[in-house]
Amino acid sequence: MSIDFAKRNAAQAALKYLVPGEILGVGTGSTVNYFIEGLAARKADVPGAVSSSEASRARLKAAGIPVVDLNSAGTLALYVDGADECDAHLRLIKGGGGALTREKIVAAASRTFVCIVDESKRVQVLGKFPLPVEVLPMARSYVARELVRRGGRPTLREGFTTDNGNVILDVSGFTITDPVALETEINLMAGVVCVGLFARRPADVLLVGNSTGVREYKR
Ligand code: A5P
Repeated sequence: MSIDFAKRNAAQAALKYLVPGEILGVGTGSTVNYFIEGLAARKADVPGAVSSSEASRARLKAAGIPVVDLNSAGTLALYVDGADECDAHLRLIKGGGGALTREKIVAAASRTFVCIVDESKRVQVLGKFPLPVEVLPMARSYVARELVRRGGRPTLREGFTTDNGNVILDVSGFTITDPVALETEINLMAGVVCVGLFARRPADVLLVGNSTGVREYKR
């Protein structure tokens, strides 16, 4: 229950970053769902949103917010999304909901990335949460072997297909002391579509909710 308050507090705090009249990017997950609820009350300020997933697209539409294709939106002023882990440098593990590739694209296309989390997501070193890697189906076994060679323990996310028609390997066993290097290395494996490390482009603002309020961190 208190974790819900924490998520809601983080989501509410992100509303102050809205740029009235500008299309924004909206991520995926239970914390973002609270943010979408908040957006519904600010419809006059929100001409449209680019969604990072089909799930958020449906929620935005239900809230009466027009969903816009990124290709026609140009650079976005703001992207708001959750995370599965975050460190003191605002580097993130994302993809627990499987939307990592579109999330990374929308984050890259945005000037300001505001990440909203409850305090359970903060860690000293990334890697306790299994690192999601989206992979083309035919490359699944090859990429899994490459990840094992680098010390990871990949598991196929059973019964799950991404919005892009691919599969996810969830990789345990990494202690990620150099997130930029690992992100680059995994990105370069043939067949990898995206790795859920957001270190080359971390968040700009981190809003950490707890049961009574929110703490803000900036890069
Ligand atoms: C979706 O693919 C993820 O990157 C989410 O942002 C992440 O799993 C956070 O989800 P919750 O807000 O539900 O914890």
